[in-house]
Amino acid sequence: MVYGVSIDLGTANTVIVDNKTGVLLDEPSVIAYQVKNGTKRVLAVGDDAKLMLGKTPDSIQATRPLSDGVIADFDAAQDMIAAFLRKALNRFSFTKPVAYVCVPFGATPVEKRAIKSSVENAGARKVGLVEEPMAAALGAGLPVLEPVGSMIVDIGGGTTEIAVISLGGIVEAKSVRVGGDHFDAAISNYIKKKHNLNVGLATCETIKHEIAAALPQSKENSRATIVRGRDAVTGLPRKLELVDNEICEALEPLVEQIWNAVMVLLDTTPPDLAADIHEHGLVLTGGGAAIRDLDKALSNLTGVSVVVAENPKYCVAFGTQQAMNLGKQLAHAIQTDP
Ligand SMILES: Nc1ncnc2c1ncn2[C@@H]1O[C@H](COP(=O)(O)OP(=O)(O)OP(=O)(O)O)[C@@H](O)[C@H]1O
Ligand SMILES: [Mg+2]
Repeated sequence: MVYGVSIDLGTANTVIVDNKTGVLLDEPSVIAYQVKNGTKRVLAVGDDAKLMLGKTPDSIQATRPLSDGVIADFDAAQDMIAAFLRKALNRFSFTKPVAYVCVPFGATPVEKRAIKSSVENAGARKVGLVEEPMAAALGAGLPVLEPVGSMIVDIGGGTTEIAVISLGGIVEAKSVRVGGDHFDAAISNYIKKKHNLNVGLATCETIKHEIAAALPQSKENSRATIVRGRDAVTGLPRKLELVDNEICEALEPLVEQIWNAVMVLLDTTPPDLAADIHEHGLVLTGGGAAIRDLDKALSNLTGVSVVVAENPKYCVAFGTQQAMNLGKQLAHAIQTDP
């Protein structure tokens, strides 16, 4: 078997895996440049660059090269992938790896070519593209090759992709612009409206990781956290205690958007496949799937059982690797020439 790596080039995080080691890299999709006399030099990538977001002086630019799962800044994406590949692989290795990369279901041929060339230019020998919902389903262990309908809901940073898969192909799919970034923004808006406090998005992401829940919590299970921000009226720094039920209220409209999209897709799914999904339920993947009780909330709303995949953050990367290993069996889900 040829040695190859798989890349989940996400809006929020990039994950690189291989067959030997497993996870080689898991870092935020962020790159920072030092700008001097009109020339740019890569200053930091990943975790180090994310710390700089929103805090840079004029001489430093920190950006996220992807937006809604596709490349928004080609040069920055290429530099970031090159740095990640160097970090993930043995830097003394001279052989260029074969790389498989996932692409969002709705990506246009131009967007797919941009992803492919950025990875080639970053140092890969041959690049294969795998549709993201297929990768997520494979990584979640769903029986994608069987004549059975499986539904996958991948909740990423910028989008949620929902797909129905059967016999190694995507039968129906839908992408909604709801993801972790929107959860962070909703938390920020909620705190501003309810408590008159301006809080940055990075702080809101931390709040989300610490206490977010998609269903109201009982007193015994309730979590709280202290938030620091700037008072919207006085402009002075202030702190306050936030409880999870407030976050639940803030996230409710977004959870409903995901629910709506699931229902629309179920509605257009051929009846026999819809029956399979009603029987087996649907599976959540992506970083957003880790929100407490999101599975229960979606199950209550849809009436279908919902489970979170094991290691939801890594399903797409490992599923892309599985697609590479399956080769011919999954040939129509892999593109080498978009
Ligand atoms: N424990 C957690 N609780 C809540 N949210 C989390 C948790 N861990 C990660 N996230 C969120 O998951 C999101 C990133 O998910 P993921 O890595 O699947 O996105 P991505 O693949 O980069 O994005 P996309 O698929 O949209 O391109 C971020 O918004 C992050 O805050
Ligand atoms: Mg993703």
